[in-house]
Amino acid sequence: MELVQVRNLKTYFPVRIGIIDALKRKKLFVRAVDGVSFSIKRGEVFGLIGESGCGKTTLSRSVLRLIEPTEGEVIFNGINILKLNDEEMRKIRKSMQIIFQDPYSSLNPKMKIGEIIAHPLIIHGMDKKEAKEQVLQMLGKVGLTPEKEFYERYPHQLSGGQRQRVAIARAMVLNPEFVVADEAVSMIDVSMRASIIELLEEFRRMYNLSMLFVTHDIAIARLITNRTAVMYLGKIVELSETKTLIDNPLHPYSRALINAAPTISRKKDFKVKIKGEVPNAINPPEGCRLSNRCPFASEICKKEEPELVEVEKGHFVACHMT
Ligand SMILES: Nc1ncnc2c1ncn2[C@@H]1O[C@H](COP(=O)(O)OP(=O)(O)O)[C@@H](O)[C@H]1O
Ligand SMILES: [Mg+2]
Repeated sequence: MELVQVRNLKTYFPVRIGIIDALKRKKLFVRAVDGVSFSIKRGEVFGLIGESGCGKTTLSRSVLRLIEPTEGEVIFNGINILKLNDEEMRKIRKSMQIIFQDPYSSLNPKMKIGEIIAHPLIIHGMDKKEAKEQVLQMLGKVGLTPEKEFYERYPHQLSGGQRQRVAIARAMVLNPEFVVADEAVSMIDVSMRASIIELLEEFRRMYNLSMLFVTHDIAIARLITNRTAVMYLGKIVELSETKTLIDNPLHPYSRALINAAPTISRKKDFKVKIKGEVPNAINPPEGCRLSNRCPFASEICKKEEPELVEVEKGHFVACHMT
């Protein structure tokens, strides 16, 4: 059963323009997410990978409606949440949480750890005593023991890994069905990454949690995701089981990404190099968005945008050349 279904989602940001453009009535947009569809099953960890600037953060926040999408649908438990009013949205937010990238800036330095984790419970109407009980239990679950000591500490007294455990506790304390983790381990010391990923995996298993796991690092995606989508300039270019994606990537962009990951052992060396940098999402190239950087691009790639098609069971690719 699918918990989250994203259909043709678009999120555009208006660009501030000069007076001349304004007089010409030109409207410019950053097309950060430009027609994305995928779904996440219950208990599934769905990965989103791609270079910086591809739209991963915008997409993951749009799915939670922390950024308002421009178009499309986000169906959560059968309900299109983009159609909900504030009050309805507030209720459903309990079930959808986010863990941010930066454990240093995402925790209020003036609040005790216990208060930080209790905050969402109290907002949702729990009395203080009961909230404290729950928070102490949660501290134990995320491995911050002795619980009573950690409850009283402040963020600056914790290491990066411990802070990220607090961020996970804060997200999990409302018992959500769906959690977005945006580069949740990227800023943590490499030595502590594995244990944080294990902790997330444990929550997934215990609560049949669904997760959207965003990372620029395919080696991290491999540790926890079941399926992965590769994003390029606001679009999904490939989607499959993570193992299949790593063993047999079909899109030139995915091949280049996997080739460039030093810690991934590959069956094949794809020798694909994508030149240059991600172009501006205000004016993406015509046709296939990779066409100006792709070593295999032919005439059709410059004219027609390739659709995401299923080439093997559960393996989708958007490329004219595969
Ligand atoms: N609030 C915003 N206003 C305008 N442009 C934005 C905003 N947020 C992101 N962008 C642009 O959208 C594109 C995608 O960014 P982002 O979603 O952060 O990508 P990623 O997380 O993959 O690095 C980039 O071109 C970025 O500059
Ligand atoms: Mg990002």
